[in-house]
Amino acid sequence: MIDTLLSSTSLVKCSLNQITILIMMFISAISFLALQIWSIVASSAGIEWNGDSKLIPPNPADDPFYKAPPGIASIKPGTILRHRQVPTKITLNNKDGLKLKGAWQILYRTQNSVGEPSATVTTVLVPYQAKDENLFVLNMFSDAAYNGCSPSINLQVGARNDSVFTQAQTMIAYSALTEGWYVSIADDEGFNAAFSSGPQQAYATLDSVRAVLQSEDITGIDPEPRITMYGYSGGGFVGSWVAEIQPDYAPELKIDGIAIGGLVPNMTAGLALYNKNDRSSFIPATLIGLSKDYKNLSMWLDENLIPEKAAELRKVESQCFDSNYNMFHSQDIGKYLKRGWDSIFDPVPRSVFEVTGTSGQRATPKIPLYVSETVQDDVSPIAFTDALLKKWCDEGATILYERNDLFNMSHSQESMYSLGGAFTWMQDRQAGKPASPGCRTTSLTSESLKGFVTLKMLGKILSGQLANYGIPVSGWK
Ligand SMILES: *[C@@H]1O[C@H](CO)[C@@H](O)[C@H](O)[C@H]1NC(C)=O
Ligand SMILES: *[C@@H]1O[C@H](CO)[C@@H](O)[C@H](O)[C@H]1NC(C)=O
Ligand SMILES: *[C@@H]1O[C@H](CO)[C@@H](O)[C@H](O)[C@H]1NC(C)=O
Ligand SMILES: *[C@@H]1O[C@H](CO)[C@@H](O)[C@H](O)[C@H]1NC(C)=O
Repeated sequence: MIDTLLSSTSLVKCSLNQITILIMMFISAISFLALQIWSIVASSAGIEWNGDSKLIPPNPADDPFYKAPPGIASIKPGTILRHRQVPTKITLNNKDGLKLKGAWQILYRTQNSVGEPSATVTTVLVPYQAKDENLFVLNMFSDAAYNGCSPSINLQVGARNDSVFTQAQTMIAYSALTEGWYVSIADDEGFNAAFSSGPQQAYATLDSVRAVLQSEDITGIDPEPRITMYGYSGGGFVGSWVAEIQPDYAPELKIDGIAIGGLVPNMTAGLALYNKNDRSSFIPATLIGLSKDYKNLSMWLDENLIPEKAAELRKVESQCFDSNYNMFHSQDIGKYLKRGWDSIFDPVPRSVFEVTGTSGQRATPKIPLYVSETVQDDVSPIAFTDALLKKWCDEGATILYERNDLFNMSHSQESMYSLGGAFTWMQDRQAGKPASPGCRTTSLTSESLKGFVTLKMLGKILSGQLANYGIPVSGWK
């Protein structure tokens, strides 16, 4: 009924749009102010934190913990190879530490995009009053082709200062911790940081879940918890790949629901849109990221990059998103290629974009999905997502699709706007209520409405600032 009400008059649309914008502005203003005030108070209060504040996390290449032990080819994917407590403090602002009951890094066996054995790390966070039967998996995106930008590094105080964009997502992990959920965040690009590889990110995520389910002795989690997953944009890309790879790669895993949004179902089309604008910096990171796992692309780059300019493009191997953005945004990436921009769609790179970035080529998802998109998405045209979801629905998937045509929101605005609905939907899955089978598309889900009405996210963001001040993180009412 509310759907009809909202879409029936432009007057309602207009005022609701204004209310939403006001709420969003209010949230940003309050969080900004709170951050300022609490940073000042916290810095003078001398509070004791978990972890060691003097340590700076080393890059994975310089840290033997990340190195795969010999002989992993014969070990089953998802096996725990090594673990330790997170060496430094977990942070929301790269400054203050969260007070958590536990924070672990687990190195586990997985495989790269082309199925070669490898190892990567997941970080498991445990709040006070944790519910050991609830696991939340956050697909945190680093949008970078350097493993020094991976979540396991970025979650810690002392992480690089050019990954602020990534670190901000810790707030979503924080929201889940306040539900009392165990939180797992995998370095899903793998040790080689194969950015933009759907298969790599899905294998690493599914194997991280297998590893966490075997971690009872370390983390205290129940071996058969309810599991939900969340990701938007780069994280939504991962969630959608998990959904279509799980039936074949990890059929034994029972995941109760994946909430995703801002999908990029067609990377080939995406790249064509990103040159010479705000998104240009994705292109070098995608080319270099994929070349780590795809030897033919690596050879193609060696042959096609202008030798004097190659080093500049390869800077993405040693820096994070913000630096990539500063260096490459609005540029014509074609200027690094001997035959210019169009050569990026040569058969070799194109074949790799298709195998790593075209969704809907594998199994029909068996895991229930909650998908949020804005029809005005400026990162990936909505038509690709519509087509993908229609295909999956025709094949029998369970999908609740919030297709936001009420408010003119950009890709980034939608990421904030859709969070309340995604969380409400995941709370139901975590409470053991199964998703209604089949597919439904609506402009506004009742989950979103509930999310706005309780202003849950606002409360969480505020209490996130309290957590910076040293209040222990536990199930929040
Ligand atoms: C980030 O760190 C680098 C090197 O550690 C430093 O040169 C740079 O000024 C820092 N940038 C900001 C914005 O703090
Ligand atoms: C993806 O986009 C490319 C380039 O626009 C197009 O050629 C291709 O057909 C698209 N694939 C799908 C599955 O839509
Ligand atoms: C490049 O390698 C990948 C992985 O082996 C393969 O799927 C793709 O078809 C190859 N491309 C070409 C043009 O041979
Ligand atoms: C949506 O907003 C963008 C950016 O503010 C604007 O360029 C565009 O024209 C708007 N579209 C509609 C349909 O209102």
